[in-house]
This record gives sequence, structure tokens and C-alpha cells, in this order.
Amino acid sequence: MDKIISLCKRRGFIFPGSEIYGGMANSWDYGPLGVELKNNIKQAWWKQFVRQRSDIVGIDAALIMNPKVWLASGHLQNFSDPLVECKKCHERFRADTIGNQVPNGYLVPNPNSKNKKGKCPKCKGELTEARQFNMMFKTFVGPAEDAANMAYFRPETAQSMFVDFKNVLETTRKKIPFGIAQIGKAFRNEITPGNFIFRTREFEQMEIEYFIREKDWKKQFESWLAEMYKWMDFLGISKKHLHNLEVPKGELAHYSKRTVDIEYDFPFGKKELYGIAYRTDFDLSNHEKASGADLKYTDNETNEKFIPHVIEPTFGVDRSVLAVLCEAYTEEKIIPPSFAKGGGAVGDIKDDIRIVLKLPKAIAPIQVAILPLSKKPELSKPAFELYKELLADFACEYDETQSIGKRYRRQDEIGTPYCVTFDFESLEDKAVTVRDRDTMKQDRIKIGELKEYLKEKLVG
Ligand code: GAP
Repeated sequence: MDKIISLCKRRGFIFPGSEIYGGMANSWDYGPLGVELKNNIKQAWWKQFVRQRSDIVGIDAALIMNPKVWLASGHLQNFSDPLVECKKCHERFRADTIGNQVPNGYLVPNPNSKNKKGKCPKCKGELTEARQFNMMFKTFVGPAEDAANMAYFRPETAQSMFVDFKNVLETTRKKIPFGIAQIGKAFRNEITPGNFIFRTREFEQMEIEYFIREKDWKKQFESWLAEMYKWMDFLGISKKHLHNLEVPKGELAHYSKRTVDIEYDFPFGKKELYGIAYRTDFDLSNHEKASGADLKYTDNETNEKFIPHVIEPTFGVDRSVLAVLCEAYTEEKIIPPSFAKGGGAVGDIKDDIRIVLKLPKAIAPIQVAILPLSKKPELSKPAFELYKELLADFACEYDETQSIGKRYRRQDEIGTPYCVTFDFESLEDKAVTVRDRDTMKQDRIKIGELKEYLKEKLVG
């Protein structure tokens, strides 16, 4: 994990938030390469689940909703974690998660258990009784900071899909089964954030609320679980690192009748990557009751009117980024060092470990790097022209600093699938060397055929 965090900082994927002010605990900023990777993941998800399907439409709703939403959805009453505090050092812990995991044998009491003799895992001090801590972030809308103006940052994107259900249905005239999808930020005042971008207080979700008839829920649940696996395959996440956890009845979220957490083998343990839940008609029914709006669906053929049931596949964006990075991070021993055609030896690279991010080509932040062998204008000028030409079709980077070996290493570390080297021979034979990130094999390609060659490799 430390190696991945260090690479992210060194190469501009992810930085500690507010770093020049000493940071802000567990807040992270996506840098120039991180934002490209994250956007590529979001765009691919949108393409796969919205644009390429006739049964799903998207929305992009407000983060701060009418507070009545959170009463109807049950979040004000139920969206809480059990919190215990050390009476001596005042450190706070989430009682349900750290219980048995505390390495020094000090058990934190689970609020549901009879064991009230827990001690602080840090200083062994006495702990308070667990109390429920609501995780929604509060704010005030308008200048008066009073209870009447209190509002909440959404803790999940899902609710706007329910609240907008009627508008979407009326404007799109979709027939059941159909879904509403959204990508956006969610906020949770987590008691124990941590593990880099795994658990933060501000994060992004990609969610689908798929509206169905009640009788179909089991079939739809299985079919959506399979769709989620197709997506993870696209991200390059190996099936052997994924595990389905059937959430026990007693631990289900307040809205769920069945939930499967898809866990991934992160370097810090097997933890939830995504989830799929059968939310029944819980949300639409409650919003109908609370708002007075008719949220029923009418089957035009049978005239049957009913509140649809919902299957919800949910995907954390940041956890997608983290799993993709963990899966792609590779260290390879290189013996003997490879040489760039045209004289660019990598002999000035001292260590023989090559760090490569083997990202799927479709989501790599940079797809093609254009590297003139020398900074001399006779090479840099035409190489820069080539870069500008390729920019229209691919995510490209131009780099003329340092030795060619070091530049290859940099591109390997950021997961660039292809490096195009423009050398002195290129001036004569009008061809360039294309180096493949994974095999390090090099092809000599005519400049006139380069675009087609790269398209074939990158788009397929
Ligand atoms: N609408 C259902 C819902 O929000 P959830 O399991 O609480 O379900 C969905 O969250 C997904 O959001 C998780 O599977 C995870 O990928 C991501 N997620 C949840 N809390 C997170 C946090 N604190 N930091 C980063 N990602 C988080």
C-alpha cells in the first residue's frame, strides 16, 4: 500500500488534501493523472450502463436536498454508527468494527453485546458506553444558522433517483424494467476513515436504481450481480481477488431485504469494493407517503398500478480507482536492460526493478507518449508536430527531458500503453519506434500509418 501511495504522490495521481497547511486528515486530492484515470473510469461506466443501454437513463441531481427526503428515507433515524470514546485520551472508535481486530487483545465493546469491559486500544483507558452517531454532514442553507434552515449533504446519490422518479418516468415514458443512473459525490462523517482513498468523508458513487416488478427481484438481482462482474473484468480486476459476502439479515441496511457486498483483496485486507441491494419498494413507498405525490407506475396494457421494487447496484468511484491501482501495480526484474532502437540505451537506469502500472488501455490516463530521442530542434520540432497531430485521437504526452531510459520508466510507472520514439533515423525513413508497455517489444512504424496502428491497438 505504501508503494502505491508513494507512486500516486510522486507521479501526480493523488496528493494529500490541503498539504501546505499540514493536511486535512483523510482528505485526498486527485492530481493531473488521477483526475484523468478517475474520469476515464466514470466515462466508461456511463457508456456501459447508460449510453449503451436502452433501459437506463441518467440524472445529475443536487447534493443538498430538502431535509424531508432524509426523514422519509430513514437516514435521519437510521444512518448511524455506534461510537465509543476513551474517557482518558478522548480518542473515538467505531465500536462495531474494531472489536475483535484490536491486535493487543483489548476488546472494544460491541453495543449489541453484553461485554461492557472494553478498554481503549490506544491507551487502555476506560471507554464510554456506545452511542449512535448519525453520519450525515449538516449545514445551513441561507444566512440564519437555526434549526429551520438545517440541511444535509447527501450520504448516498440514490435518494435523488427516487425523488426524481416521477419526473423521469413522465419525460422518458420508460417501461418497467428500467433504471435511473447517477454519478456524483456523497458525504459521510465517518468515525474511522482511512486506508488512503478507501474510506473518506467525501467520495463519489456510481449508482443505478433499477425499477422492477416484485416477482422478478431474485432473477434481476442475479442478473445485475453478473453485470457488475463484467464491469470489474473491464477494469482488469481479477476474479480471484473478488469475493461475494452475503450480508447477514441482522446487519442489513434499514432499506434492504438482501445485500451482497463484493469484496476485493486490498493490501490492507478483504474489504467491500461494491454492493448490490434489493431495496424492495421501501424508498418509493416512503416518499409517496411523506410527499403526497403519486409515485406509482401504470402498466398501460393491463392498467395495473403499483409501486415498483428496486435492485440497486452501487459502485464507489474512489474504491474503483484504488482497486484498479492495486491490481495494475507490478514490479518486474529486468535482465538484461532493453534498448531503444536508434541508440537510446536504458543503461543509466541503475536498479533492475521496473515498476509498471498495467492499467487497461481504455482507462490509462496517457495512452501515447511521444519522445524525441534528443532535445535537438531537428528532432524535437517534428516530434512535437506529431504529438499535436495525435492529440486529436488519443490522450498524449510529449516529453523531451532526461534520458530515453528514464522517460520510458516514467511512462511505465504511470501506465502509458505506448511510447513513440522519434529518432535520427526517423528523419530518413519517416518511421518511428513504438514500444509496448507490457512486453517492451518495439515496432518500427511508418509515420503515415501510425494513427491506424495505434487505433487498432488502443480501440481494438
Ligand atoms: N446507495 C447505497 C449505498 O450508498 P453503501 O454500501 O453505503 O451503499 C456504496 O455505499 C458504495 O460507496 C460502497 O460499496 C463503496 O464503494 C462506496 N463507499 C461507501 N462509503 C465510502 C467511503 N466512506 N469512502 C469511499 N467510498 C465509500
